[in-house]
Amino acid sequence: MSLAPRWRVLLLSLLLTCGSAYATDPPSQVAHAPAAVAQAQKPGHAAIASANFLATNAGLEVIKAGGNAFDAAVAVASTLSVVEPESSGLGGGFMAVLRRASDGREVFIDAREVAPAAVNAKDYLKSDGTPDRDTALNGPLSAGIPGEPAGLAWLAEHYGRLPLKQSLAPAIRIARDGFEPDSRLRGSIEERADDLRRWPASAAKYLVDGKPPVEGRTWRDPDQARTLQTIADRGGDGFYKGEVAKKLVAAVRAAGGNWSEADLAAYQVKERAPISVDYRGYRIVTAPPPSSGGVAVAEILNILRGVETEKLDRAHRIHYVIEAMRRAFRDHNDYLGDPDFVKMPLDMLLSPYYADGLRQSILPDRATPSSMLPSSAARDPGPHTTHFSIIDKDGNMIAVTSTVNYTLGSTFVAAGTGVLLNDEMDDFALVPNKPNVYGLLGSTANAPKAGKRMLSSMTPSLVIGKDRTAVIGSPGGSTIITQVLEGILAFIDGKDASDIVAQKRFHHQFMPDRVDVEQGVFDPATARELERMGYALHPREPWGFMNVVTWDHRSNTLEAASDPRRPSGLGKVQ
Ligand code: GLY
Repeated sequence: MSLAPRWRVLLLSLLLTCGSAYATDPPSQVAHAPAAVAQAQKPGHAAIASANFLATNAGLEVIKAGGNAFDAAVAVASTLSVVEPESSGLGGGFMAVLRRASDGREVFIDAREVAPAAVNAKDYLKSDGTPDRDTALNGPLSAGIPGEPAGLAWLAEHYGRLPLKQSLAPAIRIARDGFEPDSRLRGSIEERADDLRRWPASAAKYLVDGKPPVEGRTWRDPDQARTLQTIADRGGDGFYKGEVAKKLVAAVRAAGGNWSEADLAAYQVKERAPISVDYRGYRIVTAPPPSSGGVAVAEILNILRGVETEKLDRAHRIHYVIEAMRRAFRDHNDYLGDPDFVKMPLDMLLSPYYADGLRQSILPDRATPSSMLPSSAARDPGPHTTHFSIIDKDGNMIAVTSTVNYTLGSTFVAAGTGVLLNDEMDDFALVPNKPNVYGLLGSTANAPKAGKRMLSSMTPSLVIGKDRTAVIGSPGGSTIITQVLEGILAFIDGKDASDIVAQKRFHHQFMPDRVDVEQGVFDPATARELERMGYALHPREPWGFMNVVTWDHRSNTLEAASDPRRPSGLGKVQ
């Protein structure tokens, strides 16, 4: 096929990135429209950016079959459950922000896991009263009741055009017929092999003769294919009631867990109002509690709104961003939890007047030591999650961040289901004011309770402007929040999707009181100036796996880009 020059550039940018980003051909009459024409209301084509090319292709297949962005999201998420189980899956949960083009409805879909009714905080303590990290992170006691299957069924039923049978078909086919695990999955299995060996069904699923699969070997997942087929046939009930539910509960209880069939039958997806914040001509639509992400992003933007950044050099601009991050993370640890269980001072945290006060406390050229700000310390829920972004031809858009928590979740597969369970219970403050596996603390607002959702950092977001729109998100534990923030700021500064995902990152989360820096994020002069202001710069391996789709309404072009930091396939333009 022949491509217009702009699309050759876009194709090149997609091929240069390493996740899986896809944009369908634009119709020629709008692709070449001059920038001066009225802003387009519909792109006329679609774009998907996800962490794996098989998942991106699954979304594309469903769109070609007449599905919309929400059907595609079901296809992408269910395929990721098969091909990227280290990050997300049927045994986990997701959070999504979507915008429906037909009526402008914007909503947050909360398919987060919940604590089982029999949750007992003492289960996460050793006999001497100290935290038991193994129970919190491995095996069935670490798993919350999954939300992902209910969330996918909800998306299909309430927002999709196609039956689940069609949107789950690619995942079922890939699980049944097999695929070649990529280097990230093989590496994750290697990393968690000792834990996988503890559970016979996990070893049987992930290890070959007791060892991680080798490159080039086709890998099938027939149990998960059957479970997906049951969901395709019966909707959410196929997972939460009947044979699959019985097998899940039997496996969990046989291995010392505490789930009941009633826990599964009671699971409910929640629709919540997203957080919406205006910043420099754009409206950011993002995740409310039980995610801490949107509150933190809004608080940071509210602080930055009053800083005349254009009058500052780079070091001083960065200084204000870091100080805003520090203050937002301080609040996130102290106040936030499941809104169905805890009262949170959201009006205060999201108020511009509150942000004015926080801004006043920032010294113009000096770091504020975190120890001078009263609070408990930060928490980091871990770096192993996945994010994808979609815009379809009608302008429907969805940002989905999905997780099983730590790499390969609890490493516990429920025998006969192919379902790898999450270890999301560690996202609760299981032992108040005792550090979790990441050395960080949480408050009683996030204490575990029957039926309660554990606090998340997932920050799926839309950035909506008159001329340009972005769908954005990333995995990365607490760094999700600062990655998404820096992505939003870059987009508002005019950067395109490939530059946004590739740009170097920095991160401050109140405690530890240091700035994590990716190599090359600051030029030497900026780094020296920041150190002079009192910042401890802490070099760190690259983090995150951002997937972004942007829509330029003036030229009516979409761009999809995947983070170049992690290899997992290539996007393509057809
Ligand atoms: N488990 C990672 C998160 O929800 O933030």
